[in-house]
Amino acid sequence: REPIRVALLGCGTVGTEVVRLLRDRPEEFAARVGAPVRVTGVAVRRPHKHPELPEELLTTDSASLVDGDVDLVVELIGGIEPARSLLLRALRAGKSVVTANKALLAEYGSELYAAADASGADIYFEASVAGAIPLLRPLRESLAGDRINRVMGIVNGTTNYILSAMDSTGASYSETLEEAGQLGYAEADPTADVDGFDAAAKAAILASLAFHTRVTATDVHREGISGTSAGDITAAQALDRRVKLLAICDRVTDEEGNESVSARVHPAMIPRDHPLAGVGGAFNAVFVEAESAGQLMFYGQGAGGAPTASAVLGDMVAVARNLVVSGKGPRESAHAQLPVRSMGQT
Ligand code: HSE
Repeated sequence: REPIRVALLGCGTVGTEVVRLLRDRPEEFAARVGAPVRVTGVAVRRPHKHPELPEELLTTDSASLVDGDVDLVVELIGGIEPARSLLLRALRAGKSVVTANKALLAEYGSELYAAADASGADIYFEASVAGAIPLLRPLRESLAGDRINRVMGIVNGTTNYILSAMDSTGASYSETLEEAGQLGYAEADPTADVDGFDAAAKAAILASLAFHTRVTATDVHREGISGTSAGDITAAQALDRRVKLLAICDRVTDEEGNESVSARVHPAMIPRDHPLAGVGGAFNAVFVEAESAGQLMFYGQGAGGAPTASAVLGDMVAVARNLVVSGKGPRESAHAQLPVRSMGQT
């Protein structure tokens, strides 16, 4: 079979790892997919910064790369523009998309899902929430026959690292933040992590998938950890508790039986013997409660180049397999709309 041709948009830590693994193990990917998977172009801002890549793959012209002869566009640029326009362009042309872009999905997910469904293209985004942890595919596929009532967990590694370190060392918030930055988990702008924007975007994606509705980041009540002091940590310890930044997405039923969805992100004191209290470092963990499945817990590395590359590659294999059999992944645009209780700030 003809190779599946992949265009990569952006090539930072995650992209570099994706390309390395694809080039190191071409036979494995070909065997899993049923066709060779070939990166045919990589769009970057500064080609000279990528001596590890063959020069002929590199371009600064993302739009032409998307418009060219490619089957799958992998977006690792992040942020809203130009990622949004490039992905819409790809999807409208029937080219499938894999993206790790949580901010974009949290804001413009419905537009992208609609474009994918209209053209029959796929959109997969496992890496956008909780890095390596298989979580979105279980919500979209494995639990599609169940009814989810709650999704709750730790979805930001940087703040979890900071809170865990403050808990074990007694150090101040600002000292620990600096250390977290050096470890490379934090977003380029650490306010996205510490003020809860990153977790709120992830909560919006999780709530949208779990409850088959549209929740955007602005619907999510958001409180970060920048106000959490060493004193708060000690107070929690005195109560045999730990402070964790939680994302909590609930199906809510009012007295008349009307259902809606609520989503929030805030620091919470949880008992030390709760499984989430034991989640340390940059790890993530998410509980899902479903009517028939009961409680499920997903745990693993929520950030970092290699773990995130694992999720991206898994999505690429899924899309490539669909292309080989002329199949299609799950649809997201045709869902019933549960009302969302807007708890966000203006
Ligand atoms: N800054 C994010 C985190 C990266 O710390 O979890 C993964 O989305």
